[in-house]
Amino acid sequence: MDLNSRDIRTIDDVLTLLDGLFAPEADRWSGGGADWWNGFYADRDRPVPFFVAKPDENLVSYVGRGLLPAGGGRALDLGCGPGRNSLYLASLGYEVDAVDLSATAIRWAEERTAEAGATGIRFLCGDAFTAPLEGPYDLVYDSGCFHHLPPHRRVSHLALLDRVLAPGGHFALTAFAAGEGGMGSELPDIDFYRKGGLDGGLAYTDASLRGIFADLTDVEVRRMRDETADSPAFGESFLWTALFRRP
Ligand SMILES: C[S@@+](CC[C@H](N)C(=O)[O-])C[C@H]1O[C@@H](n2cnc3c(N)ncnc32)[C@H](O)[C@@H]1O
Repeated sequence: MDLNSRDIRTIDDVLTLLDGLFAPEADRWSGGGADWWNGFYADRDRPVPFFVAKPDENLVSYVGRGLLPAGGGRALDLGCGPGRNSLYLASLGYEVDAVDLSATAIRWAEERTAEAGATGIRFLCGDAFTAPLEGPYDLVYDSGCFHHLPPHRRVSHLALLDRVLAPGGHFALTAFAAGEGGMGSELPDIDFYRKGGLDGGLAYTDASLRGIFADLTDVEVRRMRDETADSPAFGESFLWTALFRRP
């Protein structure tokens, strides 16, 4: 879209215009988002907590406590990265669609899948909000993607859930926690537009998450549990974990 013209006609045009306020080289969104993430995943030996090949502790705990069906269904891993949660869901029998902006992450995820001999995962490289995702999904899982979205893309995130999440289906996420022991930027939304950057990700309160996903029923919102290096699960207490159910 030409920002110097009079092209804006639709909500999508407005969202694209707002994307353009974030300099690609300065942040993880906008047209440069995929390049930024490709660079992020280029060195697999970096000590990035979520590079471990383990599922989130909250996801394992939902299944263990019967909050999610253990027998499977259809799942969407939104912003799947190198696929650790997709692989876990596939091991339970879920048919998984896994989407990520980064081709480098998707390549890594496909390699992990081949090494594990796993089946039932369809990887898609692209923007989750425009990718050809066909619901209904019984589970939409977002581990760490939502907090990297600029505020106006919450609109796209909610529209995606509305379009693809099955009635009675679950949505779960992990996101940077505001407050003590948390992580991410606590600036108000407007300031990200003023500075043209997202400061490495947005911190949320539990109340703000409940408010944003107010159309869904809140099942559990809690901080993630820290997990030790020898644990079979990943856990960092600077994150919220939240499980919602669509009425
Ligand atoms: C913090 S990483 C988490 C990766 C993975 N979920 C994990 O926990 O291992 C966030 C991921 O979201 C992806 N992402 C960000 N915006 C996206 C979008 N609009 N569509 C698809 N993926 C996106 C990034 O490429 C990145 O891989």
